[in-house]
Amino acid sequence: MSEQRSLRWGVLGPGRIAANVAKDFGNVARGEIVAVGSRDLDRAAAFAAEHAPAARAHGSYAELLADDGVDAVYIATPHAQHARHASAAIAAGKAVLVEKSFTATYDAAELVVNAAREAGTFAMEAMWTRFQPAVVRLREVIADGAIGEVRAVTADLGVRRPYDPADRLFDLALGGGALLDLGVYVVSFAQMVLGHPRSVSALGSLAPSGVDAEAGLLVDFGHGRTATLQTSFRSPSPGNARIYGTDGWIDVPPRFHHPDRFVLHRAGHDPVTEVHPPRGAGYAHEFDEVADCIEGNRTESAVMSLADTLVVQRVLQDAADQLGVALRDEPVDPIDPLTKAHR
Ligand SMILES: NC(=O)c1ccc[n+]([C@@H]2O[C@H](COP(=O)([O-])OP(=O)(O)OC[C@H]3O[C@@H](n4cnc5c(N)ncnc54)[C@H](OP(=O)(O)O)[C@@H]3O)[C@@H](O)[C@H]2O)c1
Repeated sequence: MSEQRSLRWGVLGPGRIAANVAKDFGNVARGEIVAVGSRDLDRAAAFAAEHAPAARAHGSYAELLADDGVDAVYIATPHAQHARHASAAIAAGKAVLVEKSFTATYDAAELVVNAAREAGTFAMEAMWTRFQPAVVRLREVIADGAIGEVRAVTADLGVRRPYDPADRLFDLALGGGALLDLGVYVVSFAQMVLGHPRSVSALGSLAPSGVDAEAGLLVDFGHGRTATLQTSFRSPSPGNARIYGTDGWIDVPPRFHHPDRFVLHRAGHDPVTEVHPPRGAGYAHEFDEVADCIEGNRTESAVMSLADTLVVQRVLQDAADQLGVALRDEPVDPIDPLTKAHR
């Protein structure tokens, strides 16, 4: 890709998040939406007309993946469909940016990661938090030793969602549950600063459909380092995160998963607030990361690595197992994923 050329994106699954992202695409430095693929041609056409009038509308995902004018595919379907759709896109030679949670189960995440690595194709989880300027700066501050050695993280993310079996968030077949929708943010945030966890202990409750409705997680990062995390569909919560070090702590005020600031507290010093707002709504940064990686011939992001994605999925899987949630993904057809991917 030359310096002037913008990455040509196809949107797969033009639903709620895809619309929010598309509205924000003017803030992407080197990328444009050139195609939209839906299971329904009219939906693809309506999405294109509203958000990217020059984009080609495709009435199946298979047609989108066969579009030679698409370099990279933004997978924005429900979690349990990600493995199927990402695998098909990788088989079609497309780079993939896969919405969080990367997949429903750990095994499916590993399958997608292996497929991307074997094909030498770029893949990344769309964990937009890691690319927010405030979070990028926060990591620098920690690396510079501002709070000493990081010992612990606390974080919460909760929303009150009345039970509705028709909503994907309560449907096991679509990867429903608070863990995969919101818990992924608290786990990924803790993993970002504490590294590779050893184990998780989870307590919580289930919704009538069998998805998790709320959970408290205590994650062991070894040598006494811990993360205490909370997520819920039953109760709203502010969305705070706090990172504790041996010389102080950092508060990330609500909502920590797309913050514009953090507050550094050090013993003997006044608190220091640093403000680093995102461009637009904050989705553009992760799309620029994909363009930068592809331009630099890198098949993985160092900021949101596939190794980190797998570690996070392991925690989510183990927590779901302990809660009694039978996570599952739509099966991936290893023989002909492309033509089967139109469902
Ligand atoms: N980064 C963020 O801030 C953020 C925010 C919200 C959601 N997300 C993530 O983005 C993904 C999509 O979430 P969403 O709220 O946008 O979902 P959604 O609107 O319910 O669904 C997205 C689209 O997926 C397609 N789809 C494919 N198979 C489907 C199936 N079996 N059932 C239902 N829809 C299916 C549909 O498009 P067509 O039928 O037109 O093809 C649908 O419009 C999730 O993984 C979610 O966690 C991220």
